[in-house]
Amino acid sequence: MANASGFFTPSVPSLRSRIQPPIGIFRSGSRSPEGFSTRVFCSSTTEGADKLASGASSSESRVPRLVSQGCKLVGCGSAVPTLKVSNDDLAKIVDTSDEWISVRTGIRNRRVLSGKESVTTLAVEAARNALQMAQVDPDDVDLVLMCSSTPDDLFGSAPQIQKALGCKRNPLAYDITAACSGFVLGLISAASHIRGAGFQNVLVIGADALSRYVDWTDRGTCILFGDAAGAVLVQACDSEEDGLFGFDLHSDGDGQRHLNAPIKENEMDNTLGSNGSVLDFPPNRSSYSCIQMNGKEVFRFAVRSVPQSIESALAKAGIPGSSIDWLLLHQANQRIIDAVATRLDVPPERVISNLENYGNTSAASIPLALDEAVRNGKVKVGHTIAAAGFGAGVTWGSAILRWG
Ligand code: ACO
Repeated sequence: MANASGFFTPSVPSLRSRIQPPIGIFRSGSRSPEGFSTRVFCSSTTEGADKLASGASSSESRVPRLVSQGCKLVGCGSAVPTLKVSNDDLAKIVDTSDEWISVRTGIRNRRVLSGKESVTTLAVEAARNALQMAQVDPDDVDLVLMCSSTPDDLFGSAPQIQKALGCKRNPLAYDITAACSGFVLGLISAASHIRGAGFQNVLVIGADALSRYVDWTDRGTCILFGDAAGAVLVQACDSEEDGLFGFDLHSDGDGQRHLNAPIKENEMDNTLGSNGSVLDFPPNRSSYSCIQMNGKEVFRFAVRSVPQSIESALAKAGIPGSSIDWLLLHQANQRIIDAVATRLDVPPERVISNLENYGNTSAASIPLALDEAVRNGKVKVGHTIAAAGFGAGVTWGSAILRWG
């Protein structure tokens, strides 16, 4: 079964590939270029790898199994707001300086939503650019995953993006909330949908506007964040061409105390008295607090956990760290990026960084930096990338990928 290590990785012979059980394959029809695509489900007819792995009896072995197709990244795109806010601009509203911010974080500018811009408009633009690069028609998209913690609609924005892109066949579209790890989680979710359920073209969008939840009087946090969107198109391919070599995902609710933006406690409803009587109805409307962060703890968590996660994903992929072409981390702080690169022995010229211009754009930061690196010719088809996200939740994870 699927696990948190990346299944069907071509470089590592898995139990599944070593033990080939007799399988019954049946197809369920859905759309394809000819009108119907093939969703392939495999069902074990006798004792097989699944049974060996799970210890299930033969009567329990007729379960849907993973289809053996791979997935690869074939397009990327990004979009940023027009309003540029420099460190000097921030120094006019809080007690800080360009020197302090750039030395401690590496950030010099960030973009902030203004006018009619929204998280959705940025996400749509990024997704359009990714589709264009991939040369995939919106009608051929099977799934839209919107990774965002700041959607324009409390119920999620993915269906609105699907609509704005003109995906007339109404592909599945839903949101994933995992802050700065959102994009990596979206990527692995896309791979799982492709490998396990026969999806063909999955748009993974990372888009956030943390500027909406920043306390612009708190110099400890307001200097860090910016708004943006980035997207990739993940496409099904033969398993031999699979471009996701390994991954590693984690979460730990205990870390939430160091980084959060909870519902405001004083606005939580006090409608019930201790004896169950109704005191005040209707309840107050709720709203979220601004981002609260213990920067030092988050820094420590990132520098400790991210290298471990990447090392684990590399081990699962069977790839030595020395053979990756690029290290692409969530763009939170240049000092975090440098510390992780040092720990992994990756030289600075193989580290992708663009946070100087955009700050921490949460779920958007990895696809935004990837898009820039692909378009300026740094990342080329066939290059191997070690990508890692980390942030609120806390959540963290990494993926070893091939571009193209
Ligand atoms: N300008 C000037 N001085 C400042 C500023 C500022 N913007 N911010 C803090 N200071 C002061 C502090 O008040 C403190 O002063 P004191 O010594 O007189 O008390 C001093 O600078 C040092 O403050 P620290 O908080 O200890 O500074 P630190 O070196 O830890 O840097 C920072 C702070 C940049 C926030 C760092 O801790 C960091 O980057 N942490 C990680 C943040 C991060 O990655 N967040 C990810 C969020 S991802 C998500 O999911 C949303």
